[in-house]
Amino acid sequence: TIDLRGRSYLSELDFTAPEIHHLLDLATDLKKAKHAGTEQPRLTGKNLALIFEKTSTRTRCAFEVAAADQGAHTTYLGPGDTHIGAKESIADTARVLGRMFDAIEYRGSAQSLVTDLAAHSGIPVYNGLTDTAHPTQSLCDVLTMREHSPKPLPDIAYCYLGDARNNMGNSLLSMGALLGMDVRIAAPEALWPDPGLVTTCRELAERSGARITLSEDAETAVRGADFLHTDVWVSMGEPAETWGERIDLLLPYQVDAKALAATGNPDVKFMHCLPAFHDRRTRLGQELLRNYGLDALEVTDEVFSSPASIVFDQAENRLHTIKAVLVATLED
Ligand code: CP
Ligand code: NVA
Repeated sequence: TIDLRGRSYLSELDFTAPEIHHLLDLATDLKKAKHAGTEQPRLTGKNLALIFEKTSTRTRCAFEVAAADQGAHTTYLGPGDTHIGAKESIADTARVLGRMFDAIEYRGSAQSLVTDLAAHSGIPVYNGLTDTAHPTQSLCDVLTMREHSPKPLPDIAYCYLGDARNNMGNSLLSMGALLGMDVRIAAPEALWPDPGLVTTCRELAERSGARITLSEDAETAVRGADFLHTDVWVSMGEPAETWGERIDLLLPYQVDAKALAATGNPDVKFMHCLPAFHDRRTRLGQELLRNYGLDALEVTDEVFSSPASIVFDQAENRLHTIKAVLVATLED
C-alpha cells in the first residue's frame, strides 16, 4: 500500500511511478466526487501557507479551492508580502512556518528555496513552480493526457516544443521518463533541458521503458505524437531583452496547423500550461507581437482555439491534481 503522508513534492523524481499513479487515481476520484457533489472534506482543521514570490492565476486558485473543498484553511503570502530574502533567511522562515502550519506551497526562482524550506520546516512542502521545475503542472498534464487518450500511459507519445530549458521542459521530460512514456523534446540544442537532468532521465528510462528523444527537427520529432505541448518562450524572472533572441531561435518550433498535421495523427491534441501568447488580447502580447510583426508566439490562435486544444480541461485539472497531493500528504 502507498502512504504519502508527510511527504514533500519538490520535483517529479521525489515520487516513484506507483506513487504518481496513486496520485492520478486519487485525483480522478476527487474530480468525480466534486462533479457529483459528493466530496467529503478530509483536511478539516489543516492550515496551509501559500507563498508566491512570482504571480499566478491557476496554481494559487487551485491550492485555495482545493483546500477549501477539503476543509483546510489557506494563508496567501504574495510577492513581496513576507520578509523572505530581505530580512529573513528561508531557513528561519521555514522554522517559523513549521510551528504554525501543516504544509507550505512555495513559488519562486531557485530550486534550493524549496529544498531549504522542506529541510527546515519539518512539514510537507510543495513546489508551486521554480525556475527548475513545475511538478504540480506535470502531474496535471499526465492526468489530462490519460483522460484524453484511450492508450495506457506508457503507450502515449508526446512532444514538447519550444523553450525546453525552462521548468516545463524539465518537468515534462522527468514525468515521462518516470512513467515510461514516449517523450520528445523539439527545441534548438541551446534550449534543451539541463544536461544533468537529461542523463538522470536517460538512466531512469532504462528501467521505466521510457523512450526519450531530443531533437532540433520539429517535423520529425512530432511524427506519431498523441499530444503536442508548448509553453511561453520567456519565463517569469527572465529579462525582457531575452524575447528578441528567443523569438529568432524558437519560431521554427511554433505550434501551428502545420505542426499538428506533421504528427500524421488526426486525433492529436494540443496542450499548454498557460498563460499563452496566441493573440493580442494582453498588454505584453500586444507589445511583443507589434514589435516583432507577428500574429502569435509559441502557438497560433488557430491551434489554440481549435477542437484539438484541450488547454482548459488541462487548467481545470490543476485543481483536482493539487487536491490529490494535499489529501495524500496531509490526511490524518
Ligand atoms: N500554469 C500555471 O502554473 O499557471 P499560473 O502561473 O497561473 O499559476
Ligand atoms: N515557464 C513558465 C510557466 C508558467 C506557468 C514560467 O516559468 O513563467
